[in-house]
Amino acid sequence: MSSGVNKSDAKNQIGKLKKQIRLHDHRYYVLADPTVSDAEYDELMQSLLRLEKDYPDLITPDSPSQRVGGEPIAGFTQVEHKSQMLSLANCYNENELLDFDRRIRELYGGDPEYVCELKIDGVAVSLSYKDRQLIQAATRGNSLVGDDITENVRTIRSIPLTVPEFPLPDFEIRGEIYYPLAEFRRMNERREQDGLKPFMNPRNGAAGTLKLLDSREVAKRPLRFWAYLLLSEEINSETHSEGLELLTEHRFPVIQNWKLYRLIEDVSGYWKKWNKEHFDLPYDTDGIVVKLNDLSGQTKLGSTAKSPRWAIAYKYSAQMAATTVKDITWQVGRTGTVTPVAELEPVLLMGTTVSRATLHNMDEIERLGVRIGDQVELKKGGDVIPKVTQVILSDRNKNSAPTPVPENCPVCGKPLVRDEGGIAIRCPNWSCLARVHGRIIHFVSLNGMDIEGLGESTVELLVRAGLITDSGDLYGLKRGDIEKLPGLAELSADNLIKGISDSRKKSFDRLLFALGIPYVGIGVARVLAETYDDISALRNATTDELETIPGVGSKIAQSVIDFFTLKHNVVLLDKLTKAGVEGKSTVTDSSRQALDGKSFVLTGSLTGYTRAEVGEEIRKHGGRVVSSISKKTDYLLVGEKPGSKLQKAEKLSVKIIDEQAFVELIKT
Ligand code: IVH
Repeated sequence: MSSGVNKSDAKNQIGKLKKQIRLHDHRYYVLADPTVSDAEYDELMQSLLRLEKDYPDLITPDSPSQRVGGEPIAGFTQVEHKSQMLSLANCYNENELLDFDRRIRELYGGDPEYVCELKIDGVAVSLSYKDRQLIQAATRGNSLVGDDITENVRTIRSIPLTVPEFPLPDFEIRGEIYYPLAEFRRMNERREQDGLKPFMNPRNGAAGTLKLLDSREVAKRPLRFWAYLLLSEEINSETHSEGLELLTEHRFPVIQNWKLYRLIEDVSGYWKKWNKEHFDLPYDTDGIVVKLNDLSGQTKLGSTAKSPRWAIAYKYSAQMAATTVKDITWQVGRTGTVTPVAELEPVLLMGTTVSRATLHNMDEIERLGVRIGDQVELKKGGDVIPKVTQVILSDRNKNSAPTPVPENCPVCGKPLVRDEGGIAIRCPNWSCLARVHGRIIHFVSLNGMDIEGLGESTVELLVRAGLITDSGDLYGLKRGDIEKLPGLAELSADNLIKGISDSRKKSFDRLLFALGIPYVGIGVARVLAETYDDISALRNATTDELETIPGVGSKIAQSVIDFFTLKHNVVLLDKLTKAGVEGKSTVTDSSRQALDGKSFVLTGSLTGYTRAEVGEEIRKHGGRVVSSISKKTDYLLVGEKPGSKLQKAEKLSVKIIDEQAFVELIKT
């Protein structure tokens, strides 16, 4: 059927239809939020096809009608990548992630900001745009040279063929082509019905589809794409995240659920979330990717032969094994929490032999219904301790009985208490040897004071012998005391004493982490140590002041304050101070900084900053935020509707500045 439209009207209508179809493709394939029915969409496409049939010279390569695939080809041509298509180094547990963070901090020389993304389990491709048109798509190949799969990729409707308003004319996008899970299952069912071999998994399905030489066949398979990298010589953004935002703005299908973090603990939280929740996504992912956000930092760090130094893949934990529960024991941690542990028939899992697995709490025991003698399925986290995922009930011994909850601490014998929520049971005895042992182990651990030669068993010997009751006692140990302990004489008491003594010089952030303040992990310890010179400065902090620090909320602030008021902590801190353990200051060298050592009090609300942001600015420039005004205060920063601090500052002749003056100040 002819369209019955003259050529100039046809040109006009074709232009409009192409725009509408592109818009609907974006809504459907990228946003998953279509605004028209399939029938309405088909109608638009049919109208376009009719007009293009009447006026074939009006067909342009970027028309949505040109996504149906072309003539089969004999083979793929090879294309050289503009820059090498690197892969990523992997890590599998939190310690390895912390190592990555440490390396980045050393090489980058500042506080890194990380972009966390999901690691899509598909096929890596590079898309090249010239004059804002998609001109080439290529597989990774051997990282330097790949297959030209342009015709196949053009059939993927979420990938724009043209981006008329993109600010850069020439650019490259890297990302992953994948097979959505529901569609993959359907395709495999069809293949089986047709007597064809099903694909092993969605990744093989996507790779197999992209290898087809007939793009018309590819067009029938609903492949999708997520972009995760924008490359261009003309790029004027400073960060990776700006690239992702720019692509999103111009309707590219950008990888979902990415997040920006400053604390490595938050990165770890992101992994924990997706390690659990990735099963709910409609596509396969096999971990997260952590990238340094600053592009000049990326250039500074560079790459090894295979992978960039500024990024890492942190894989999900996934592997399973089955074994028998020989016993269920109860472990008392440094905070008193009593955790059930399954003692297992040793079994090999992800390359290590596993003989214990945490059962977390009584709720978990009940949920699993696990009993001594049961066959269980084990899943190993990237973390150290593996997890029991289910009981294999068909193998249960008829004589087994449910696990009773202990009433007394298995270590000190004191009656156990239930936590408020009723889930956890705790030993309330601060002096319980298990708790003492746990606190000291935490103190000397890798991210704490990292004292060599002081492992779990040595600490246990020292605690049992009554030589130490807290971490402060370590610094008073004598050669003679240690030598008397069984098995320690040969271990060179001198070395141990030297290791302990050397730890006096460890940095303040390590000391803070080592103290085991609830909610103060490595990341929080670091930001606290960047704000305060030493323990005594932190001891004098108020909750208000602590809360202006980014990453420190009211829960953490209160926990820090509480810690310093507890008697046994005061005793410990006094011992440490006496022994000369104060933590080496990590506050940045302020000699070059605008606010060098100046103290600020804030009042009223600011327009350009939140309280946390202004606090960060002040600290970044070498200054400090304090909560109340005294003669020693250098500046009162006044916002709208100031409080009584203003009068007080006037009375004490403290310099008063507004937001604009503050901005000037940090500029100098
Ligand atoms: S970035 C230079 N981000 O994982 C950095 N890769 O070996 C290059 N992948 O070949 C990769 N999701 O195909 C990056 N969000 C993501 C990713 C991702 C999946 C793939 C990529 C690469 C492989 C890692």
